[in-house]
This record gives sequence, structure tokens and C-alpha cells, in this order.
Amino acid sequence: KFEGLALTPPMGFNTWNTFESNISEELILDTAREMKANGMLEAGYEYIVLDDCWSLRERDPEGYLVPDPEKFPNGIKGLADKLHEMGFKMGIYSDAGKTTCAGYPGSQGHEYQDARTFASWGIDYLKYDWCATGTRDPIEAYTTMRDALYAAGRPIVFSICEWGTADPWLWGEDIGHLWRISGDIYDCWDCEQEWSRGFKVILDLYHDKKPSVVGNDGLGMYSGPDGWNDLDMLEVGNPGLTLAESRSHFTLWAMVASPLMAGNDMRIITPEIVDILTNKDVIAVNQDKDGVAAWRYRIVPDSYEIWIKPLNGGDWAVCVLNTADEAQEIHIEWERLERAIQGEFDVRDLWADKDLGDTHTDLTAEVGSHDVLMMRLTKK
Ligand code: DGJ
Repeated sequence: KFEGLALTPPMGFNTWNTFESNISEELILDTAREMKANGMLEAGYEYIVLDDCWSLRERDPEGYLVPDPEKFPNGIKGLADKLHEMGFKMGIYSDAGKTTCAGYPGSQGHEYQDARTFASWGIDYLKYDWCATGTRDPIEAYTTMRDALYAAGRPIVFSICEWGTADPWLWGEDIGHLWRISGDIYDCWDCEQEWSRGFKVILDLYHDKKPSVVGNDGLGMYSGPDGWNDLDMLEVGNPGLTLAESRSHFTLWAMVASPLMAGNDMRIITPEIVDILTNKDVIAVNQDKDGVAAWRYRIVPDSYEIWIKPLNGGDWAVCVLNTADEAQEIHIEWERLERAIQGEFDVRDLWADKDLGDTHTDLTAEVGSHDVLMMRLTKK
């Protein structure tokens, strides 16, 4: 693969969660303008990714993918040029099978041709899905596209979207820059259907995949610079989440160093959601250059969880997630974290933007239902 394209988790926007097949050049350019105006581009959201349903249902007689001319009257190249002019990078989507999940042509048997097409259009990021793959071996399939992208010669971030069925955390790093660990996210706290699940369900799955050993549990041990666990695109700001849930979802994705790909409608985004998505201190936790993912340090079922993440230079991020259905007072005795966190630290609440003293004094804080207390511990 092209090395070094994702030294920190990729950030951007993806069309799928809100728009599904309802995509167009106009939508993408409106989204880009909004993300520039509301500070998201400046905050680091650089990739704008077109998901499924951008092409025609058939390849052309020479086997090339054809952008749907009604949705993309200037082609994908025309759109990519405009996005680049605005300071963004552009991502696109294909599939390792015969068709995409929505029934458009997949790249199986056309990998080198499609990779060259994407490179010639100025694409910077490819999400590569796993529908209609039959008995295909995932390592073979993703390796073939990796090699095709490399041969095409343009640095393209490669996003493995295999849904975690073949343990991609064990092989993804050699092949791509990020890999999905689960089926699709949905805008709810903990609902669960066959193909979609709430962010809390994905977070539990991330933790449970590997049994707890303090400092080493969950899938976090498999991720790091240039190879990230992808817990799926953000549902922050979408209708099924309360404001507190959007804040928790964003915070936990920052903690586990998942990519931050917004999935909401930028044209109707509220100031509260802009504040969540552009919180510099929380983003800095996600983008920390050491790239160590958080692990769950403590859980009191149906009450609260504590997640901790070591940061560059000896600081820590500590997040308390209230999983109860009501607000509660959380009491933190710092010495009870000392199996992981030793030393003296100043404590700052990153959402309230407020100092909370230091680790010599125990902390009591009110945390709303499904909300978080997100802290940075700065070494004294
Ligand atoms: C399944 C993926 O997991 C989703 O993120 C999305 O890309 C859809 N396919 C598109 O059909």
C-alpha cells in the first residue's frame, strides 16, 4: 500500500448514512461549502466520500465505470477538481464483488482498470465494500485492489469495508489504512437489527472481541498510525440520537481512534452539532500522533464505563460514559486508576472547557444519561 497516508485517523464526510442513493454533484458541493463555512474543513474534515450509487448500472462497452450523468453532470473528475480547489480531498466507493450492495457494478475482475480510472479522476480515498463477493477470499480480494491502486500510481487511502467477518484487524494493516470492524451503524444508542446497530452496540463489540486484560483489551491493540479500526461513519447530528448521545458517540470514536467521517446533512446542521464535530480538544485526542486506542478500564453494567487513552508526551484522556437511563453523580478516586495512570496531572473537562483541579483531589461530577464526562489529564 502507499505508506503514510493515514498517520492519524482519517476525517471527513461520507454520503451513505443520510443520503444513501440520493446523491448528486449539487449535494456534494453544498456539503463542501457548508463544511468550509462551519469550520469543519479547518478542524480537519478533509475527505468528502461518495458512497454507493454514483455510477450507472452498467459499465461502458470497454468495461469502464460510468458516473451517472444525471447525478454528476460534470463527471467525477469535474467534481473532484472543484473539491480540490476548495481545499478538500475526494473519496469514492466500490465493491470487491460483482456488484455493490445497491446493485451497481463492483470491481471484481476490473480492479486494475477501476484503480486507473479512480487515479485519473483525482480520487484520494477508496472505500471498498464486501457485497456480492460469493466465495471470494477477503485477503485475496483486498490485496488485489491494494496492488491495483499502487500500480495506478496515485496515493489513495484504502478503506477496507469487510464488516469484521474475517478478522480484518489481523491482516488489514498490510493492505489498507483502515478496516471496518462491524456491520452498519444506525442512528440509535443501542438498537440492533441484522444489518444495523447503534453506536453503543459497536462499541461493546469493539471491546468484547478480545477478552479483557487491562491495558490490552478490545481491538485497540491492533490499530495504530496508518492502520485503524473503523467503527463506522458518524451518526452525530442524525435524528435518532439525542444531543447527549451525539456527544458520547463522537467522544468514544475519538477515544478509540476511529476515523471521524461525519454522516449528517450539513445543510441543516445545528450550532450544537457543529460545536460537537469541531471541538478541537476532543479532535486532538482522536488525532494524537501516538495513535494508541482507548480501552475500557472499568465497567459497572447499566451504570457507567471508564475509558482511558494514553496520549503523546505522557498525558491521558479519560472518559466516563453514563450508560444509565438517568443522570448520576460519578465519583472518581484517581488512585483507583493507578494500574494504568501513574503520576500527577491537571484535569480539564473538554466539553465544558473548564479546569477540574488535579489528581490529588477526588472528583465528583454530574453526568447526564447517555452523556460523557471527557477529560484530558495533563502531566504536571
Ligand atoms: C454496506 C456498507 O457497510 C455501508 O457503509 C455502505 O457502504 C453500504 N454498503 C452501501 O451500499
